[in-house]
Amino acid sequence: MQKKELNHLAIILDGNGRWAQERNMPRIKGHYEGGRRVKDIAIAASNLGIKRMTVYAFSTENWSRPDDEVNFIFKLPKIFLDKYLNDLMKHQIRVEYIGDISYIPEGAKKSINDSMIKTNENIGMTLCFALNYGSQDEIVKATKKIVQQVEDGSLNIEAINKEIFAANLMDNTPVDLLIRTSGEQRISNFLLWQIAYSEIYFTDVMWPDFDEKQLALAIEEYKRRDRRFGGLSNAK
Ligand code: FPP
Repeated sequence: MQKKELNHLAIILDGNGRWAQERNMPRIKGHYEGGRRVKDIAIAASNLGIKRMTVYAFSTENWSRPDDEVNFIFKLPKIFLDKYLNDLMKHQIRVEYIGDISYIPEGAKKSINDSMIKTNENIGMTLCFALNYGSQDEIVKATKKIVQQVEDGSLNIEAINKEIFAANLMDNTPVDLLIRTSGEQRISNFLLWQIAYSEIYFTDVMWPDFDEKQLALAIEEYKRRDRRFGGLSNAK
């Protein structure tokens, strides 16, 4: 892989609630606007030739939010897809999900399944929603799958390596650039395995204000970085 290629972009979309509160609006309005931004940035990323974009839509820890807010977030897949599926189709964007979707409300589950079926043949960028996702949970689930294979005799314990471990994750595409908006500088249990060598870009901009110009700034910064993957600088 070319060291400066940007194959997988991952985004922690943070600041929806604060964006709304600063405007005396209910927090859910921030999530609504945040959904619109996901569509805008997905199209911009696909136009830039990015192959995969994963967005952190709902973490395994987000259940502790007030019921009204959680209920609204789970209405977003339907709202988002009713409004934007045509745009995604036009840009040949495939929709995928990672996370434990067995525990989410039925309506959201249906929209999710419909969107995967409808976009399955698209050949452009994959837009992956991490929904009821937590990286530690993903790693525990991968470990259980591997132990199961050892127990049933299909995998020899000596054969377990990084590649086998990664293949048992929900998705194992290495992240090239991770963006977190809103000024927070944390990883929050997002794609811990996949970000091993990713560049990280923090910005104070709230997610509903993160537009194509902001994406261009992040990519400019990414291109300036010297990705060494544990080796020596190219410049030397
Ligand atoms: C963080 O803002 C954002 C979320 C918890 C997720 C909202 C999800 C989306 C906008 C995308 C959903 C789209 C689909 C189709 C599932 P925050 O509430 O943590 O903001 P704050 O830190 O200002 O409170």
